[in-house]
Amino acid sequence: MNYRIAPSILAADFARLGEEVAAVTAAGADLIHFDVMDNHYVPNLSFGPMVCSAIKPHTMLPIDVHLMVEPVDGMIQAFIAAGADIITFHPEASRHVHRSLALIKDAGLQAGLVLNPASPIYLLENVLEQLDMVLLMSVNPGFGGQKFIPATLDKIRRVRQLLDAYQAESGRRIALEIDGGISPTNIAAAAQAGADTFVAGSAIFGQADYVAVITEMRAQLAAISR
Ligand code: DX5
Ligand code: ZN
Repeated sequence: MNYRIAPSILAADFARLGEEVAAVTAAGADLIHFDVMDNHYVPNLSFGPMVCSAIKPHTMLPIDVHLMVEPVDGMIQAFIAAGADIITFHPEASRHVHRSLALIKDAGLQAGLVLNPASPIYLLENVLEQLDMVLLMSVNPGFGGQKFIPATLDKIRRVRQLLDAYQAESGRRIALEIDGGISPTNIAAAAQAGADTFVAGSAIFGQADYVAVITEMRAQLAAISR
């Protein structure tokens, strides 16, 4: 299994953002998770496309943009121009989900939908063809450092089943990313349930040694067999 670790720079030191991005890149991360909050769709404000362009030269890793904004289409266009590689958004925040996904796909980027803890899985069903990734929230969006909601494990299993069934008929694998409260202590449980991409903010940036945390996460993943 090809697992990916995606440090969320929401938990980084913003005064030294370029260095922080370079440090997690050197520490063995696979993606840079970029949390965009607008104080409208979520009750917090983070950073936008200008910051995305600014960090781009500090890493060769794909930038995984998680849009927590409403409306989404204008920001999709801005992040395409800013060098995003993957863009995910919350279906509740888009009036026309198929159109928003098409905007991302037509630009040659990878696209995904994000499900909140209370969002139903059926939101994915009619757009599977357009998806490269599904992002499952294991906390309510808006803040780093929250506690993993245990019921998410069962939801990971159910989404994995849907994605596996789609892969069986289409031959195309859709990644399943989990976001919120992930640490070395629960990453294996999330992987066993069917997640393959793991966002971690405070668990990585809250420690002095990023290599040690990422290595520990990889060791936890290597120890499971699914
Ligand atoms: C929450 C964000 C997460 C968050 C993760 O709205 O989408 O990516 O930064 O932070 P931790 O790993 O600290 O829960
Ligand atoms: Zn996120």
